[in-house]
Formats: sequence, C-alpha cells, structure tokens
Amino acid sequence: MEIIIQPTPEAATAIAARLIAGLIREKPAAVLGLATGSTPERLYAQLVDLKLDWTKITTFNLDEYVGISPQHPQSYHSFMWEKLFRHVNVAIKNVNIPDGLAKNVPASCEAYERKIAAAGGIDLQLLGIGTNGHIGFNEQTSSLASRTRIKTLTPQTRKDNARFFGSEEAVPHHVITMGIGSIMEARQCLLLAFGKKKARAVAEAVEGPVTAMNPASVLQLHKKATLIIDEEAASELKLPDYYRWVYDNKPEWQKL
Ligand code: PGA
Repeated sequence: MEIIIQPTPEAATAIAARLIAGLIREKPAAVLGLATGSTPERLYAQLVDLKLDWTKITTFNLDEYVGISPQHPQSYHSFMWEKLFRHVNVAIKNVNIPDGLAKNVPASCEAYERKIAAAGGIDLQLLGIGTNGHIGFNEQTSSLASRTRIKTLTPQTRKDNARFFGSEEAVPHHVITMGIGSIMEARQCLLLAFGKKKARAVAEAVEGPVTAMNPASVLQLHKKATLIIDEEAASELKLPDYYRWVYDNKPEWQKL
C-alpha cells in the first residue's frame, strides 16, 4: 500500500484530483468507481474546476440506499448529480449507480456486476472509509470475497450518517453495495480519509492484520492501493515517518 500523508484535507484532495485527472487525460474512456459521503465532496469540486472531458468516461458508484427514490435528496443518485455529474459533460448512459428501488434486488445486483465486467472492469476505484473500517457499505465481517448485494447497516453507520438525514430514524436500514471482491478487482484503489475519527480505522487497515473486522485492511492484498490521508487521520499510524520518507523520496517519474 502507498500511504501519502498531507497536512490538510485540501492538500490531500489536490493530489487525488491530480491522479484522477491524469487518468482521465491519459485514458479518455476510463472506467471510474466513485464514492459518496463527505470525504470526496471537495475532490468532486476540484475535478469540476479542472474542466476535464468526461464524454467517454463510464462511472460505477459503490452503493445506494434501499427504499429511497433516486430523487430523494439523500439518495446517492442525488448526491452524485449534485456534486459532480451535472457540472461535467458525462453521458447519462455511462453513469451507473445501484438501484435502491429494484424489485428483484439479487437480480439487479448481478446485472450491476455484469455491467462492470462488460465495461472492461474499473480502472480506478475511489473509496472512503467508515469509522469501523467499512469500504463501500461493506460493514465489519463482510465476506472479503463478497460481490454487489444488499447489506444491513450497523447502528454505528446509521448514527454516522444521521447528520445527512436530520435524524437517525430517517436513515434507511438497508443498502446495496459493491462487494469487497468487486472492489478488489479494480485496477487501482484510491482511499481518502480525513479527520481524527478515522485515525483508528486507518491504522488498523494499514498496519493491522487483514481481517473482515476492518474491511479496508483487505487493500493490503491489492497490488495498487493508494491511501491519501490528512495528519489527523494519520495520527494513530505506527510508521508515519516512514510513509513520509517514501513519498518525499519517490523517483521523479513516479511522482503524482
Ligand atoms: P464519510 O464516509 O466520507 O462521510 O466520512 C465515509 C464512509 O463511510 O465510507
């Protein structure tokens, strides 16, 4: 894993934006795996400002709440259109987000997986991390081989997300999420984490054992996983100076 520690979320986001912009310029028909939540908001704003050409880009979002319509203000459909898609020239037909209103959830999840495969797989999967180490909505003890499927949110995640819904009761109990196995097939994973409350989950993911108790720890097995985090999220790491040393001494051609 590559760990990049930056003084602030702004500095961390700027590197992530450069990395994604580089991919879009180099591969105009790239397939991007996208994430929601507060962590990538700034990143999407920066990508919009870069005025990239999204016409051939295909996107797959990690997850969506079950039982709320795409028009619901807290749906991840709404989030993505609001924060990114309506500001760039992406083709609607190339945007994919799990269907939270699917009548046949397993069939819809299988179709989502088939669509990712038909698009040639995901070039870069953007990820946040939950305070419990979840990636997508793969909560603790999710199978590390899991595919897109329905999941029940933990009480902690519902609490964490209550801020978006106004109250905890309003947070749906179920979501559809790409699985950990699906995420691991992306050719590159880029995880962003900011703030003190992510520090424990980040430290366990990077330096703890690979375990379904911290789903993000599976990224230790990914051949190209990059974590870009701020000082606060890095504050419980055992080897922060080593990660800084590696980043500062990257060969010129490898610099982001
Ligand atoms: P956040 O959520 O970006 O809102 O902190 C991250 C996550 O739960 O994956």
